[in-house]
Amino acid sequence: MKSIASAPGKIILFGEHFVVHGTKAILAAIDKRVTVTSTFTENKTVKVNSQLGTLEMPVSFSCEEANSEFRPFVYLANKMINSNQNVNGVEITIDSDIPIGVGLGSSSACCVAAAASISGLFKELSSEEILKISIEAEKTIFPDTSGADCTVCTYGGMIVYDKIKGIEKIGNIFDLNLIIANSMIPHITKNSVEKVRKFKENNEERFSKLCAYETRIIADVIRVMEDEDEEDYNIIIGEKMVSNQMLLKEIQVSNDTLDGMIRSLTLAPDPDEDWYIDGAKITGAGDGGCVIALVGLDIAMEYKETEENLRRVRAVLGKDKECFSAKIDTGVRSKTEQ
Ligand code: MEV
Repeated sequence: MKSIASAPGKIILFGEHFVVHGTKAILAAIDKRVTVTSTFTENKTVKVNSQLGTLEMPVSFSCEEANSEFRPFVYLANKMINSNQNVNGVEITIDSDIPIGVGLGSSSACCVAAAASISGLFKELSSEEILKISIEAEKTIFPDTSGADCTVCTYGGMIVYDKIKGIEKIGNIFDLNLIIANSMIPHITKNSVEKVRKFKENNEERFSKLCAYETRIIADVIRVMEDEDEEDYNIIIGEKMVSNQMLLKEIQVSNDTLDGMIRSLTLAPDPDEDWYIDGAKITGAGDGGCVIALVGLDIAMEYKETEENLRRVRAVLGKDKECFSAKIDTGVRSKTEQ
C-alpha cells in the first residue's frame, strides 16, 4: 500500500515574527506544493528520499541522531511505527516544487504532508490531528515555531492565525493579485526568530509598541477584507503592507537587498508608468527569502490572464531575481493506493 499526501507552501501577508510573540498573523496557502509518498518496508528502518539526499536509519534510533533536514520525517515515522507493533519500517519519498529556505513554508509543508502521508498508512487522521503532529515534528528543528505555517499548510485558503486561539478562516477573500519575488538569499528561520527575540529582550518597551502597531494593522486589514462594499481595499491593503514592512525593518529582519527590491517595486521608475504596485513587503522570516508585491487593482484585472504582471516585475527587479504569481490553494490532501 502507498499513502500519498500533498500540502501547499504559504505566504504571510501580515504579522510574521510578531505572531511568535502573541499578535495575530494573516497567511495564505499558495499553489506550490510538496508531495510525500509513504510505503511500509520489511527492514526495521526509516528511509527518507528527498532532493536533499537519502537517509536510512534503524527505527530504534531517535530523530535527534538524524541531520536536521531529515529529523521531522524520522520523528513522524518513529512515532507511528512505535505505536504499531506489526510494522517493521517505512520509506518516505518527498517531491517538492516549493523553493527551500526562502520563506515560502517548504519545511512546514513537508511536515504536514509527511504527517498525513505516514499516518495514512495506519489510519486516517483528522486535520486537527495532522496539524498537532506536524507542529511536533517541526519543533524538532525549530522549537519556537508559532505554528502559523503548519496551520495554513493544513487548512489552506487565507487564514487569520493566533498562537493561543488558533485559526479563523477569512470568508470573503478578495482577489488579491500578488507577485512573489525571491531575493535568492537563503535564510534560516530559526536564526531570524532568535535575532528578533534578542531585539525584544534589549528593547522591551519599543517591541511591545511594535506589537500594538502590528495588531492595529491586522485589525484594519481584517475589517477591509470583511467589508464587501470597500472599493479601495487593494489600496488600503497595499498601504498596510508598507506599514508592516516598516515594522519588520525596525526589528532588523530586512536587509539592503530586500529594501532595494521593495523600493524598486513600490516607486514607479517612470512617472508616466501606467503600471503600479500598491504595496510590497517581506513574506516569512526575512533576512533574505522572498518579498510579496500587490499589483494595482485595475491593472491586475486588465492583465489578469496574461504574463504581463510578471514581465513588469521582472523588468523592475532584474533577471537575477526569480518571480512568480501566487494563487490561493487548498490545504493538505491525501489518498491511499494499493
Ligand atoms: C516564518 O514563516 C514565520 C515566523 O513568524 C516564524 C513563526 O511564525 O513560527 C518568522
